[in-house]
Amino acid sequence: MWRGISTMRDAQDMIIGWRAAPPPTFRIWAENPASFSTHRITALHHNFHEHPLFQVPELVKLGKELAPLGRCRFMRPGLTVASTIAHDSRHPDGRSIDEHFERMEEPGASVALYNIEAIPRYQALLLAIVDTMRGSVEPEQPDIFRVNGFIFISAPPSVTPFHIDRENNFWLQLHGRKILNVWDHQDRSIVPAEAVEDFIVTHSLRKVRFQEEFRARGHEFDARPGDGVYFPSTSPHMTSSDTAWTSPGNRVSISIGVTFYTSVTRETARVHQVNRVLRKCGLSPAYPGESPAVDALKAPVGGLVGATRSCFVDMTASARRFKPVTTPPPGSY
Ligand SMILES: [Fe+2]
Repeated sequence: MWRGISTMRDAQDMIIGWRAAPPPTFRIWAENPASFSTHRITALHHNFHEHPLFQVPELVKLGKELAPLGRCRFMRPGLTVASTIAHDSRHPDGRSIDEHFERMEEPGASVALYNIEAIPRYQALLLAIVDTMRGSVEPEQPDIFRVNGFIFISAPPSVTPFHIDRENNFWLQLHGRKILNVWDHQDRSIVPAEAVEDFIVTHSLRKVRFQEEFRARGHEFDARPGDGVYFPSTSPHMTSSDTAWTSPGNRVSISIGVTFYTSVTRETARVHQVNRVLRKCGLSPAYPGESPAVDALKAPVGGLVGATRSCFVDMTASARRFKPVTTPPPGSY
């Protein structure tokens, strides 16, 4: 039935004979949007695994751009979830980044792309990812800042050992499968307060140690492309991937951690700074969040402690001409 040509667009469609599909809208959404909280581990879904910049050839290209910047990191073979986490910018077998990607499907091959925001097109994408959840985050945690991205490309069997990070994390599975185990950041039976303070102030994970009996207290996600998990700053976590799901041409698991700080993570880090000093004086200070009024008093002091410590470390480093490794990064104090 003739319906007439109502718009110029319809006329164009009739001339060229088809209408192009609208570009896809990429987003993250909580499995249960009503219960999402930045203070809780939450299952997510997303469709960023379909984004052009997250396809394997583009990620290989990204890795080759990041390698000269020292941002491709390799883990030594044979790690377990209980190992100390350590990424080295040198390949354990001395391979170049080109050789690594040529053999990226070999069992155990693994590379982590650090700080992908160094490449402008990925910086824009990371901000777009966070923007899809900004309306859910900022009512609880205003002032999102320092949005960074870390991509993990591995051929099973592979693990990321048990550890904590300073930032909140939107963790997204992009290709293949991976098991993510995460524990509540408030569970002091998993990581003691003293261990969290040492990590926030000095980067040390020496006291963050995995024990097999922890598994029963955590959340385990069997993540596939399109799955994700939000977890708050200092939530203990680890990943593992086995070969059971792999097939020819499908042997690589890829996930991304989109991390960010907020005014809340910054205040909490400042409270940790003060608590670490108090604990070294033999006291047992309240953990951040136990007493908001006390936190409000500690946080400004913690900011000064952190800034002073950072200046001292920098001065000591330049006097001794070594690269400081214990300076808290901007955003954590
Ligand atoms: Fe992590």
